[in-house]
Amino acid sequence: MAVLPATAANISRCAQTLRDGGLIAMPTETVYGLAADAANARAVAAIFETKARPQINPLICHVASPAQAFDLGQFDAHARRLAETFWPGPLTLVVPRGASCPVSDLASAGLPTLALRCPDHHVAQALLGEMRGPLVAPSANPSGRLSPSEAAHVAAHLPDIDVLDGGICAVGLESTIIGCLDAAPTLLRSGGIEREKIETCLGMPLSDLPKDADSAARLAPGRMLQHYAPHAPLSMNGEIPDGDYLVLGFGPGTPANAAENLSPSGDLTEAAANLFGCLHRLDLRAVAEGKSIVVSTVPSGGLGDAINDRLKRAAQR
Ligand code: TXA
Ligand code: MG
Repeated sequence: MAVLPATAANISRCAQTLRDGGLIAMPTETVYGLAADAANARAVAAIFETKARPQINPLICHVASPAQAFDLGQFDAHARRLAETFWPGPLTLVVPRGASCPVSDLASAGLPTLALRCPDHHVAQALLGEMRGPLVAPSANPSGRLSPSEAAHVAAHLPDIDVLDGGICAVGLESTIIGCLDAAPTLLRSGGIEREKIETCLGMPLSDLPKDADSAARLAPGRMLQHYAPHAPLSMNGEIPDGDYLVLGFGPGTPANAAENLSPSGDLTEAAANLFGCLHRLDLRAVAEGKSIVVSTVPSGGLGDAINDRLKRAAQR
């Protein structure tokens, strides 16, 4: 299989593969997605198999426009406002499924809800335009591993999949996921749009996931699973491991001998865009050299919340 330049001919070829029930990897502004026709249950099953993804973890449905999403799910006033403000863009909305929604039940893991997102990438938009129906697309990595922010990451880890090359993902972190299932919109995953911007748009604070694990798992099944794990051990928040390590720095205070710097000027948007690329490179090197990875402190707030969420999960063993 191949990395395909995102020419009109290759986009049409990939759209045909998808209509025939096949899988391809597509670029989005957040990370690369492993796409399938959302209405084709066999194609959706192939996604779970290819990623070795637990079937309890539902998929996001990608649509060409807010109007298409409004036909698939039930949008209350909050959800509609968020869709109209932030789409196309790195925001996913979880809403009750619409009555005649054609999306395979397997895609939403049997839940009565649906996660919907309208991506802001011209290649994803061109594909969706040719498909007319929605595409499910989880991040195009083996389940639990680092997300892909470049076509080469997909080719290295899912070598049997054709990948449309849309360059390096501009945002670099997965979408922010908001549950709009009752009066209190809930932050289910921090991501490419800052919590603060969403709260300003809604004019109210977002709720957080409930503390009790069972209720949290019902609302956000994927958050309970292992995620973003590099092969080398990773530590953060000033924890220094035994043995040799490579430093992933952040900001102007980074020591000169650091292996990489997420953003030399300390800019969180730049750090988010660099996060997975740096981790993929450092992981290869750390494994080859028998070292671990130590990440400098990244401040919380804004995109720092999503960056720290990914790092915290990457550090879990
Ligand atoms: O930016 C993104 O969101 C990327 C790109 C490719 O669009 N996609 C992505 O997909 O991150 P994935 O599968 O890696 O993460 C989707 C998350 C999972 O945590 C899953 O549990 C959650 O969305 N999700 C999907 N459907 C849901 C639902 N009905 N209710 C709650 N969470 C849901
Ligand atoms: Mg993922």
